[in-house]
Amino acid sequence: MKVLVIGSGGREHALVRHLLRDPQVEAVIAAPGNPGIASVARCEPLPGGVTDGAAIADLAARHTVDLVVLGPEAPLVAGVADLLRERGYAVFGPSGAAAQLEGSKAFAKDVMTAAGVPTAQARVCATLPEVAAAMAEFGAPHVIKDDGLAAGKGVVVTDSSEAALAHASTCLDKPGGRVVVEGYLDGPEVSLFCVCDGTTVLPLAPAQDFKRVFDGDEGPNTGGMGAYSPLPWAPADLVNEVVQTVARPTVAEMARRGTPFSGLLFIGLAVTAGGPRVIEFNVRFGDPETLVVLERLASPLGGLLHAAATGDLADIPPLEWSPQAAVVVVIAAEGYPGTPRTGDVITGVEEISESAVVLHAGTARNEAGDLISAGGRVVSVVGRGADLDQARQAAYGAVSRVALAGSHHRTDIAAAACEPVVQG
Ligand code: AMP
Ligand code: GLY
Repeated sequence: MKVLVIGSGGREHALVRHLLRDPQVEAVIAAPGNPGIASVARCEPLPGGVTDGAAIADLAARHTVDLVVLGPEAPLVAGVADLLRERGYAVFGPSGAAAQLEGSKAFAKDVMTAAGVPTAQARVCATLPEVAAAMAEFGAPHVIKDDGLAAGKGVVVTDSSEAALAHASTCLDKPGGRVVVEGYLDGPEVSLFCVCDGTTVLPLAPAQDFKRVFDGDEGPNTGGMGAYSPLPWAPADLVNEVVQTVARPTVAEMARRGTPFSGLLFIGLAVTAGGPRVIEFNVRFGDPETLVVLERLASPLGGLLHAAATGDLADIPPLEWSPQAAVVVVIAAEGYPGTPRTGDVITGVEEISESAVVLHAGTARNEAGDLISAGGRVVSVVGRGADLDQARQAAYGAVSRVALAGSHHRTDIAAAACEPVVQG
């Protein structure tokens, strides 16, 4: 099969890398891709951006692809999957209507309530007095979320009422702005990806993401600074429980509404004393979690995504997993998650060991052909090993060889999980 992958981040580099390992995949084309993807697959420009459905359909036609994988949320929320399906293509990714599970936090809460999914209490607010009342009801720490898409940066969790109200005010000032105020969920976070075809749900291995920019979970939220899998501290039945209490009821509720969910249901959870609770849904693979999850997936990825796109997941044999552990560390540009500095030369990404691989995200080539930084999260380094400790060493060993002026990364990815005691 021939596959077209849309996007240009570390997630898409990982998708392309693992699709190419599937013997049934004869070619992968990426658009727009990035310099890392270009070293393993053909990249096509997408001048109108990843939401230009007509251009994506033209690429699918020109390359006679059998499957289109939409990586980021923007084209999904914009309904690009619908347009491609109308033109007869198999698409991995939900319809625009089903993508509202990520596109609107208020919609996601409504579906969770209807499906009886365990989650935080929440109030959708359109004015500051409503926000203040909800904050008083739930108490501190305050959780204030922009209702719309905000690239993982629309959420503020704080003990300070002033900071909470200031963030709410910024969100409400946007046209049609709404904020969701939530009760605080206390417990370690888990990302669980479920491959769905509208009815059947197939969970992948769980991972943990590190959202804050600095060590020790300090500083502002980012798109994700690192991740690891497996989770030695997680309850043994966690995946089963989340499939039963979250994924299946949600997929059933979406089907009942006439907007079946197919593609990747990304369940962001807090494992609280009262059991797993949903923090958020996303409708695409997470970045950087995907880099460690796919590194451990031993089953062919092309067959899996194609089966999800065509409603045939029930026929897929049980997924196989490598017993190895994987750790990913993101190297970010100076200034990220604010305005990143770009245009600096990156070196050292080619000299990577057997047990580590560098995946590109915000990279580009300058006129001289040098690899330069072109975004906030620049490259992601994935290490593999017999256990988390070895995977961590492989990842950080490779990180130390990558040079980028002004860059920063967390030094504590998977550190607590390598300790023998349960951590949070
Ligand atoms: P979201 O964009 O909804 O995933 O939120 C980003 C991050 O904010 C999450 O990964 C959590 O760390 C934190 N967060 C969101 N909602 C809650 C909540 N109800 N309780 C505690 N932390 C939360
Ligand atoms: N790493 C979290 C996300 O992809 O949203």
